[in-house]
Amino acid sequence: MMDLKNFLWGSATASYQCEGAWDLDERVESMWDHYLHEEGLENGDIASDHYHHFEEDIRMMKEGGQRAYRFSLSWPRIIKNKQGEINEKGLAFYHKILDCCHENGIEPFVTIYHWDLPQYWEETGGWLNEEVCTAFAQYAKVCFENFHTKIRKWVTFNEPKWFVCSGYLIGNYPPCIQDVSKTIKAAYHVMYASALGVKEFREGGYEGEIGIVHSFTPVNGVDDRIETKIAMRYADNYCNNWILDTAAKGEIPIDLLSELSKQYDISYMKPEQLKIIKENTVDFLGLNYYSRTLVKPYTSGETTFVVNNSGKAGKGSSKVIVKHWFEQVMHDPNSTYTEWDTEIYPKGLKDGLLEVHQKYGLPIYITENGIGMYEDVTVPQVDDEYRISFMRDHIKAMFEAMEQGANIKGYFAWSSFDLYSWKNGCEKRYGLVAVDFDHDRIRKPKKSYTWYRDMINSNAENLK
Ligand code: BG6
Repeated sequence: MMDLKNFLWGSATASYQCEGAWDLDERVESMWDHYLHEEGLENGDIASDHYHHFEEDIRMMKEGGQRAYRFSLSWPRIIKNKQGEINEKGLAFYHKILDCCHENGIEPFVTIYHWDLPQYWEETGGWLNEEVCTAFAQYAKVCFENFHTKIRKWVTFNEPKWFVCSGYLIGNYPPCIQDVSKTIKAAYHVMYASALGVKEFREGGYEGEIGIVHSFTPVNGVDDRIETKIAMRYADNYCNNWILDTAAKGEIPIDLLSELSKQYDISYMKPEQLKIIKENTVDFLGLNYYSRTLVKPYTSGETTFVVNNSGKAGKGSSKVIVKHWFEQVMHDPNSTYTEWDTEIYPKGLKDGLLEVHQKYGLPIYITENGIGMYEDVTVPQVDDEYRISFMRDHIKAMFEAMEQGANIKGYFAWSSFDLYSWKNGCEKRYGLVAVDFDHDRIRKPKKSYTWYRDMINSNAENLK
């Protein structure tokens, strides 16, 4: 077994999904607060109430053998308005979390943006407004300046693909737009903002490293036909390359740009911005892995996205067709799927890690991996054998990739404890620790928490 002494075993959360305290201590409204309140949907007003439970949560990470905590900073908690006024109480909250991490020997691994855009920026056009890119860089600078002595691992954005496509193309996340042209613009602005964040980091000369986190899904084809290979390239550009190529190599895939420019005006991509993207690439890649994407050539029909956000829509109800590009195959008879149509496919992690290693040669962290399930948390201990088996199979797949040369430096289980799962609400649970949302949000370690602790403490001997 390889030497895992410095390997970062940890778990992850995100501000909006766990903090709660949405209007406490001068935090302002985020686009998610606004949207969920307006629509009367289940929200994260209280969520796991990490705001008041963080000491207990971080202590449990330590007792669970974990060495790192990936979490995000909330822009609307830190910056009060468009003028950039700082909320000292917001900074103080994160100082407390960071101090608590260090007191417990937990390395903080911090994402600057995990989807909670301040509503005051959303009202100016959000990611369609170039000004928001500069505002992001200023916010990132405030984070670096205030926390640089306590954070060595930084992430600019969590999953540009997921929040941009959900917000501007599929329309199931705020700002609930369905428009290809706007999707391209928002995507470009986010990648430009990420490069501006990296630039601030480099210019400030802060210690540590900075990366980006991507919702990674390696693309497989149904067969070896040339049509399938073309569909795979389209799917890879749509799913992965516009984030990974842009962040790691400083280049937006040229075949993608060429294709898009035939139908859409992309003249807002200015040479001086492309230069900033080129010159400010990341130090590492964070990959969130849940599943692969199996594709076949496009046959017919309009571009369609059906997302199973309820888990009750019935397995197999999801659908992805991108007209003239590719169709996603949602059912492989040899695989098992969750209630939310996520295929359980550990091999994809190994294949994907090797692919990313070969393409970019950068250090990699698996920044999220986990399984969402319905669970009864009123029992003394949730017996989540399925989560143990999911994690065991994926960690083994990661080791196989490491044995073949991939430079993987950490693994973060999603999630540290149960939290608010965006449009899926709180009943889709991912935590190693159960949170009883109906009874004072009491915490109870699940069986997987203990398994993970023993696996880490045994240097993964129990995986053999
Ligand atoms: C990732 C996100 O997309 O996957 C998390 O970074 C998210 O914020 C997680 O919660 C699981 O997805 P979902 O939609 O099931 O909560």
